[in-house]
Amino acid sequence: MDYILGIETSCDDTGIAICKIENDKIFLVDEVLSSQIDIHKEYGGVVPEVASRLHLKNLPILFNEILNRNNLKPNDFSAIGVTEGPGLKGSLLMGVNFAKGLSFSLNKPLIGVHHIKAHIMASMLDNEELNFPFLAIVVSGGHTEIVKVNSLNDMVVLTRTIDDAAGEAFDKSANLIGFEYPGGAALSKLADSIDKDSENFINFDLPKVMREAEGFSFSGLKTAISLLVKKFEDKLKDDYVKASLCYAIQDSIVDAILYKTKKILKTSDFKNIVLAGGVAANKCLRKRLGELRNVKLYCPNFTHCQDNGAMVSYLAAKMFLEKKFIELNAEVYPRWDI
Ligand code: KG4
Ligand code: ZN
Repeated sequence: MDYILGIETSCDDTGIAICKIENDKIFLVDEVLSSQIDIHKEYGGVVPEVASRLHLKNLPILFNEILNRNNLKPNDFSAIGVTEGPGLKGSLLMGVNFAKGLSFSLNKPLIGVHHIKAHIMASMLDNEELNFPFLAIVVSGGHTEIVKVNSLNDMVVLTRTIDDAAGEAFDKSANLIGFEYPGGAALSKLADSIDKDSENFINFDLPKVMREAEGFSFSGLKTAISLLVKKFEDKLKDDYVKASLCYAIQDSIVDAILYKTKKILKTSDFKNIVLAGGVAANKCLRKRLGELRNVKLYCPNFTHCQDNGAMVSYLAAKMFLEKKFIELNAEVYPRWDI
């Protein structure tokens, strides 16, 4: 039996988790997470310097907590997995340095995990029956891409955003109508609260997001929303008007993701699709992708959509089985293609 540690610090969440390998099968043992969102909220976005300092402070605290909770000692781990990129450089350095320290002092191998691959593999962690190949729809705060996933070592990006990511589109729209950062989840909650058949419902006509162009593009949506916000400034004080606009924004972003997914599915024979990244928590997106015919949708548990240590320790465990280790002079990769 092997215990594999996973450390995630690519942005503003400090996550640590432990997976156990028994007869080549991987089980999640425990996970801890410290979100910094309440601090970054004050600044309207993630402040890299603050994020790094908080990782530095939180990593040893969380590590101690997870060891104590599970009655484990550092020496019980067979390998140390850590997110090497992509992400904020300073944040990544905190996790990687912490992992290097453990790897060096314990004389255990170090495993460098790709953050987006970890998001993709979160669905396999939470759905035991899911197998390769599948089509992954990656929608997070920093990434929006559709990926052909043949195996752990063979992932091909088929299409990606040319400007904002889907999560960013949610957050920027939310900000324009007065939600606190990050706002995506709050916007979606208000959108879901509305009854479309009610006589109070207002049909805001937002543009279909760049349907024909290659890749996703969400920047036009932002412009359309800011014009609407100016035009309806007073009316938006009414909760129902605001909820109607949230509904239109969510519909427009979800529609763009669905349109591109359907287009790819038309010319391929995938049986399974996988949703990954923070926006995978969006209920409307899950519902509409789940309704697609001839494909089965797999999603991570809600707690494994946002950044977390569990997906890192799971992918690290998979890589441990393939003996994919990195050296102590390893670097971080703030930009790193799949
Ligand atoms: O994967 P993630 O935690 O961080 C990155 O790696 O980017 O994704 C965070 C993003 C944020 O933009 C957040 O607003 C968005 O996911 N998000 C949502 C929902 N929950 C989180 N967007 C829409 N609907 C949600 N329910
Ligand atoms: Zn992420």
